Parts: sequence; C-alpha cells; structure tokens
Amino acid sequence: MGKDVIVALDFDSRERTLAFLDRFAGEERKPFVKIGMELYYAEGPAIVREIKARGHKIFLDLKLHDIPNTVKKAMAVLSGLDVDMTNLHAAGTRAMMEAALEGLTRPDGTRPLLIAVTQLTSTSQERMEEDLLIREPLDRVVMHYAKCAAEAGLAGVVCSPLEAGKVHESCGGGFLTVTPGVRFAGGEVGDQVRVTTPARARELGSDYIVVGRPITQAEDPAGAYRQCLADFVG
Ligand code: C5P
Repeated sequence: MGKDVIVALDFDSRERTLAFLDRFAGEERKPFVKIGMELYYAEGPAIVREIKARGHKIFLDLKLHDIPNTVKKAMAVLSGLDVDMTNLHAAGTRAMMEAALEGLTRPDGTRPLLIAVTQLTSTSQERMEEDLLIREPLDRVVMHYAKCAAEAGLAGVVCSPLEAGKVHESCGGGFLTVTPGVRFAGGEVGDQVRVTTPARARELGSDYIVVGRPITQAEDPAGAYRQCLADFVG
C-alpha cells in the first residue's frame, strides 16, 4: 500500500469543484481526492461519477452512522459508485462495522477501503465526558475504537498524524492511518488545532494525508499539491 496525498474537495458546487480540478490538467499525476458531505449533498452521486470518469481516485467521506441494516444497504449503494475509500463512525459498534463491510463487498469480492472515524478531532475530553458520558482518557477511547475497527475487519482509521504510530503499534503496521490536520511550515492553521507538516506526517508513519485548504486556497494549487507529494511521498 503506497503512501498518498488526498486533496479534500471542500466545495459547495460542481462548477467550483471542476474549476479547481481543471487547474491540475497539465499534471502527470491526477490527485486522489476526498468528496465530503458538503459537495455530495449539493451535487449527489453524479459528481462522484463525473470525477471518477476524469480519472481520480475517490475517498467518499460521508461518515455513516445508523443501525447495521441501514448502513449495510447504504454501503452497497456507495460500493456501486466505484469509490476507492469510504468511511463510518466506529461509535456505531462492531455489528454496524461488520454489516457495512458486507454491504460494501461487491459480488466479485472486491470493495473500497473502509475506514473508521474514532472520536472527531472537534470533540474535547470535557465534551466527551459531559455530553457523551464517556469517562476515559480521549487517547484511550481513540485506541479502543481503532482496535474495534481492526477486529471488525476494517482497513484503517482517520486519526491525527500524532496518533499514527500508536495506532500502528496496537492494530498492526498494515492498518491504515488516514490523517488530516496537515499544514506547510508557517502556513495558516485555520480551525485545526494540532497540525503537522507533510514531512513530519511521513516520519510519524501516516499512510495517507488529507489536505484541504493548504492546496484548495493556494495561489498555485497544483504547485502546492506537488510540494505535498514531494514532502510526504518522496
Ligand atoms: O482544510 P483542511 O486541510 O483543514 O481540511 C481537512 C479535511 O479533513 C476537511 O475536509 C475536514 O473535514 C477533514 N477532517 C478533519 N479532521 C477529521 C476528519 C476529517 O480535518 N478528524
């Protein structure tokens, strides 16, 4: 499994998204892209098909969380969209994760990589204790969810690059860590709290970095993407 940079297409329309992708037209490598709730809810499955037809690999970041049967059926639909990676909330339980894998598996046995969200990076220790009534240290909760995901047969988790080493230690080196919160040295942090550079994420053992604003808001997005690739993949 090679390391790669995933560009977050955090746009609210097809027009804006395609105008952004057009800026990569001359590139030798088509970026692996992430389609999240904003773009998917705005444009529906058609945008997934269109970007796939342009030759991009796709991480469909819809973070499913419902009863096992509903998630299984929804995953079967997403699998038909031929995406390369998708995700769900580990908080939906092992039964939900197992059902999701079943739904995602195509008749020929292949399936997109299924990744779990553990605790959202926007959830603090305090909110987890008071709102969710989970009274364990946050990092322990994250590792426990990662283990459950691994035991359910998932391919990996979304986590901070700072947690990648620990996840690999407890779930195995082949268990993927997909890590947002990446910034160039001296770049705008925005609303991310704990950030690392692409080079540091590589040292920490991330398998995929998810990069949004440092590329989408750059004056030269293709140049910023190339820089990320050079620093992270080598
Ligand atoms: O612009 P930025 O590089 O911060 O974008 C990061 C992307 O990764 C966004 O699409 C964000 O929703 C996503 N993400 C994240 N933290 C998580 C899960 C997803 O930043 N824990």
